[in-house]
Amino acid sequence: MGNKVFIATSLDGFIADKNGNIDWLHENPSPSGNDGGYSDFIQTVDALIMGRGTYETVLGFDCEWPYSKKVFVLSNSLKEVDPSLKGKAEVITGNLRQIVKDLNDQGYRNLYIDGGKTIQSFLREGLIDELIITQVPILLGNGIPLFGELSDRVRLKHLDTKAFDNGLVQSHYTVKM
Ligand SMILES: NC(=O)c1ccc[n+]([C@@H]2O[C@H](COP(=O)([O-])OP(=O)(O)OC[C@H]3O[C@@H](n4cnc5c(N)ncnc54)[C@H](OP(=O)(O)O)[C@@H]3O)[C@@H](O)[C@H]2O)c1
Repeated sequence: MGNKVFIATSLDGFIADKNGNIDWLHENPSPSGNDGGYSDFIQTVDALIMGRGTYETVLGFDCEWPYSKKVFVLSNSLKEVDPSLKGKAEVITGNLRQIVKDLNDQGYRNLYIDGGKTIQSFLREGLIDELIITQVPILLGNGIPLFGELSDRVRLKHLDTKAFDNGLVQSHYTVKM
C-alpha cells in the first residue's frame, strides 16, 4: 500500500514550461519503443489522484482519456468532471490525509499522485511513499517546478537508476519514514 509519484522532469527540475506545455517530453522517441516503464508502473496502482491543473491539461489533449484506472481530481473550484468522464473520474476535495484514508478504505490502496502542486502538498503532509522520476535531457530555464517548499526535510532511499536508449534517466526512491 502506498502513494507513488511517477513523473518526468527537465534536467533543471520542471514538469512543464512556463506556459504549461509538455511537448518537450516527447522529443526523444525511443529507438526500441520503450515507454519509460509507464505501463509496468500503472499496473501497480489502483487509482490516480491528480491536481486540477494536470486534469485540465490531459482533458485538452487531442486523444481519448488515457487512464484505465479511476482518477480522482483534487480541486476546490471544480464541482464535477467533464460529463464524458462519468464513472472514470470524479472531483474530490478536503483534507489530504482524510482523502487518502477514505480511498484506502474503498479499496484504492496504491495511489498514483500526479501534478506539481499536488505532489508538493502530499510531500509536505508526509503522504508520499515512493518517487520514480524520469529526467529528460533538456534545460527549460523556467516553468512549473516539481518540488517546492517543505515543512521538513524529506529523506530518500535510492533504489535504482536506469538510463533508457533515448537518453532519459529514471531514478526510483522510497521515502524514509
Ligand atoms: N512532466 C510530467 O510528467 C507532468 C505530469 C503531470 C503534470 N504535468 C504538468 O504540470 C502542470 C500542472 O501542475 P500544477 O503544479 O500546475 O498543478 P496540479 O497539482 O496538477 O493542480 C493544482 C490544482 O489542484 C487543486 N488542489 C486542490 N487541493 C489541492 C491540494 N491540497 N494541493 C494541491 N493542489 C490542490 C487546485 O485546484 P483548484 O484551484 O481547483 O482548487 C490546484 O490549483 C500541467 O502543465 C501538466 O501538464 C507534467
